[in-house]
Amino acid sequence: MEFFDNELSTLMPAEGRVEAIAKVTGKGKYAAEYTVPGVCYAVLVTSSIPAGTIKAIQVDKAKRATGVIDILYHQNKPVVPGFADETKIRESRVGLPVFYTDKIYFKGQPIALVVAESLEEATYAASLITADYTAEVFNVDFVKTHPSIPLKAAGKERGTVDEWSNAIHIVEAEYTIKEEVHNPMEMHATIAEWVGDNKVKLYEKTQGVNSVQRVISGLFSIPRENVEVISEFVGGGFGSGLRVWSNTLMAVMASLQVKRPVKLMLTRPQMFSLVGYRPESWQKIKLGADSSGKFSGMIHQAKHTTSVFENFNENITRIARLVYDFKNLKTESAIVPLNLGTPTWMRGPGDCTGDFAIESAIDELSYKLNEDPIALRLKNIALKNDPESGKPWSTHFIDECLEQGATKINWKNRKQTPGQVTEGDWQIGYGMAIGMWTSGRTQASASIVLDKSGTIIVRTAMTDIGTGTGTAMQNLAHESLGMPKNKIKVELGNSNLPPAPSQGGSTGLASLGGAVMDAATLLKQKLATYAAAINAQYKDAAAADILLSENGISYKQANAQFISYADLWKKVDEPTIEAEATSAPGEERQQFAFCSSAAHFCIVRVHSKTGKVKVDRMVCVADGGKIINEKPAANQVSGAAVGGIGMALMEEQQADVKFGSLLGNDLAGYHFAVNADAPIIEVSFIDKPDPNINQMGSKGLGEVGIIGCAAAIANAIYNATGKRLRNLPITPDKVL
Ligand code: MOS
Repeated sequence: MEFFDNELSTLMPAEGRVEAIAKVTGKGKYAAEYTVPGVCYAVLVTSSIPAGTIKAIQVDKAKRATGVIDILYHQNKPVVPGFADETKIRESRVGLPVFYTDKIYFKGQPIALVVAESLEEATYAASLITADYTAEVFNVDFVKTHPSIPLKAAGKERGTVDEWSNAIHIVEAEYTIKEEVHNPMEMHATIAEWVGDNKVKLYEKTQGVNSVQRVISGLFSIPRENVEVISEFVGGGFGSGLRVWSNTLMAVMASLQVKRPVKLMLTRPQMFSLVGYRPESWQKIKLGADSSGKFSGMIHQAKHTTSVFENFNENITRIARLVYDFKNLKTESAIVPLNLGTPTWMRGPGDCTGDFAIESAIDELSYKLNEDPIALRLKNIALKNDPESGKPWSTHFIDECLEQGATKINWKNRKQTPGQVTEGDWQIGYGMAIGMWTSGRTQASASIVLDKSGTIIVRTAMTDIGTGTGTAMQNLAHESLGMPKNKIKVELGNSNLPPAPSQGGSTGLASLGGAVMDAATLLKQKLATYAAAINAQYKDAAAADILLSENGISYKQANAQFISYADLWKKVDEPTIEAEATSAPGEERQQFAFCSSAAHFCIVRVHSKTGKVKVDRMVCVADGGKIINEKPAANQVSGAAVGGIGMALMEEQQADVKFGSLLGNDLAGYHFAVNADAPIIEVSFIDKPDPNINQMGSKGLGEVGIIGCAAAIANAIYNATGKRLRNLPITPDKVL
């Protein structure tokens, strides 16, 4: 299936997203939607206790049920070389060695997998399976447990605490955030199909096909190229698709065992326990300032949950080292193991959590100082150099983000004294906060193909998780080649295509874009060489002077003749003309530090009788370097901000401390922000290229869309009501 459909593309405006029509018409397929002949269906059976050992699993009844092909569990599974012993399991870094242990670490852990002819038969048979356990003491209580886990230094201390702990102005407070759960539209799913016993093909919901390829080839001890991973369309991903979870392993194991293609899609409830989440956290901030409002120092302490079988640390205090110019800074952290699934990255991981505490504390300080919170920040932001490495920022425009955002939201209408503005029962307030993210870049490859029909195809293995990768590839190819957009197709999300990193951590476009541009240059050089055989003038043409059009190529030189593709192909003895490039960061990373940033501003209204909070306006101005296409870029940021509204006001997973179960395990019991909870998010960009980061000057954008958002809302609630709320989510009971 082609990612970009020419027939449909005629319907699309030039600035549209390449995948839009395929996605909204359902023509684009998610992992579980591919038709694979002979496929059978797998359904999970999960543990009913949160800790212990499996004594016995009763599978006989299920085995006799109609349609059942096989049942996998710890005593009946295929050989997985990567799980051969404890050391190998640890090295595999997959976390849960599913079916290769009889240990139970959390409630909802897979203990068996029924494979049957139909989904219904598998579901019914799974309901017949029971297990006996030796139960052990368990713990899912973060609030009770974390005080007993000691903090450890997280990074090198800057300066000393003694110097400022008696500063004139001190804010000292604790902050908590409840666990938040990934709920992409597309649930994690795999169709696995082995060809013999050393080749496997996966249709997979993932943010990185090459990463899945690496993990599966390692575990099953087969060459990497024997694992094909396809993820052409992804129904959203905020970090849960950056790991290979047990569901993928089980599908691959099952297909190997039954020698047929196997489809396994997690149910929505299973999404709550098996594919990670943003961990519940506790933080403490002590922030000091002198009488002029200059920060004299900060202590930032943080703890969050992990599982009992894996150490996940999302480094909540990292952002304390990034944004402000603290001469004195102490950061400490700890992780708290609980009988839950392992947490994972989720939009703005770590920084989003840490930023909420820091940006809330700074807001609090601004009221103590009776100073505008924007002015207070501008006084303290490390605008020239990365305060951690000392390297100069390549580009950093957070000051401009603040300025533009303030204008857009009419910040001058904000009252410095809280609780001043009412409208009937509503109290109205303004809030703001900033967020930053280091702009990463890793090695990526892309190829560009010109075929005989005069169509350009841009290829990479990178997935497009809704971020607009495909659209950006098309746009960049158009800009560098000159070819009209409707003649440029995109193919991505397949491990057979030029290798690329996973799409996550706001590194996708910054990594891939350079490869697309380099491939375009190589292609133009190739074309010029072929053209030179027709017209010698093309011999010395620089790639930058070659332009492709619908019908042929031209050389930007007054008297150089246009050469049609028809003539060109006469000189080419290949079915296609193709150029591939790999692009990676280099020297510039020694010289400069890179960051993206954003300022969030909002107006909230708080109902004085019900405690309901409504976000009336949300303005986000972001610096992501050069913006390749404003639509997907703004989609990224507004989607993230809606996530931030959920984080601030409603997302809250809780575990039942008595039984170890999750209280939220469907979309009724776990609330996240939907369109009705969000205003139109007003997104704009600084749009100045970073001259050092890559060929286009584009920096990552995904994470900064959420990072300052929750703090901006909490700060606005304070401005509206005079109530400082430090525990997320800010549900009505906390407001009243
Ligand atoms: Mo990213 S943590 O995959 O939003």
